[in-house]
Amino acid sequence: MDMKNRVALVTGASRGIGRATAKLFAAEGAAVAVNYLQSESAARVVVEEITNAGGKAMAVRADVRDEAQVRAMVAEVELTLGPLDILVSNAAIGFLVKPFTKFTWDEFQAKLNGELKSIFFCCQAVLPGMTERGSGSIIAISSTLSRHSSPGFIAHSTAKSGLDAFVRSLAEEVGPFGVRVNVVAPGLTLTDATAWLPEEQKAMIGDMAPLKRVALPEDIAGAVLAIASDNSRFITGCYIPVSGGLLML
Ligand SMILES: NC(=O)c1ccc[n+]([C@@H]2O[C@H](COP(=O)([O-])OP(=O)(O)OC[C@H]3O[C@@H](n4cnc5c(N)ncnc54)[C@H](OP(=O)(O)O)[C@@H]3O)[C@@H](O)[C@H]2O)c1
Repeated sequence: MDMKNRVALVTGASRGIGRATAKLFAAEGAAVAVNYLQSESAARVVVEEITNAGGKAMAVRADVRDEAQVRAMVAEVELTLGPLDILVSNAAIGFLVKPFTKFTWDEFQAKLNGELKSIFFCCQAVLPGMTERGSGSIIAISSTLSRHSSPGFIAHSTAKSGLDAFVRSLAEEVGPFGVRVNVVAPGLTLTDATAWLPEEQKAMIGDMAPLKRVALPEDIAGAVLAIASDNSRFITGCYIPVSGGLLML
């Protein structure tokens, strides 16, 4: 997938979809920055697995909701690995699952703020370099819940819809500078974030998909790699659901 000599930053790569993405990018030849917030030892294990397999990686701590930390992270990554070619904005911003009437504004706003701050700060930090070099690929990890809502998920759906709109607008703006911006939207994926869901519910959702199962993190990573690579060089502003066909647009 032509990832040799590429430098990628994957946010929230200590676990789940980010971890699978970092490992796949590295296996395809990219030098990868593994961002984490709290799981330092897990992030170090990801880096160790990559380097033991002959790849290049570094771990870098930053809360993606904090502008100064994001700027420091990008500066450290570019100093260590070189100019960034790819940003995968993946870090999972937590949210409450409950009926709308039970939400306070502060709870709702925390999710909107977190989701939008993370993409805003990460893009502001990487874009000056990408536009100057005339190339770059940004992939934002949204959710099929941004297009197909589910009871209780109003904060998540609203925040991810904002993320989708942000990506479309940014793709318009930075396309003329050679930078592509796309959304990969996973359906239900087996990670720590979904471990709380009852097994019967996961099985039921899997059964509704034409491909008859829910996703593994590696399924999402494969789609992210495909969109990041030059094979997708004429794709920008797109929303790609990765849900085994459960969400078709
Ligand atoms: N799993 C699903 O079914 C599903 C479906 C649709 C969309 N998604 C999206 O896919 C993405 C990844 O989700 P996941 O299921 O892989 O989550 P996960 O397994 O719970 O992992 C979350 C990752 O995000 C990191 N993180 C959380 N807050 C952070 C912050 N403020 N700054 C930096 N890193 C932070 C965590 O780092 P530490 O552990 O180091 O703190 C961890 O590496 C998210 O954007 C999520 O909304 C997931």
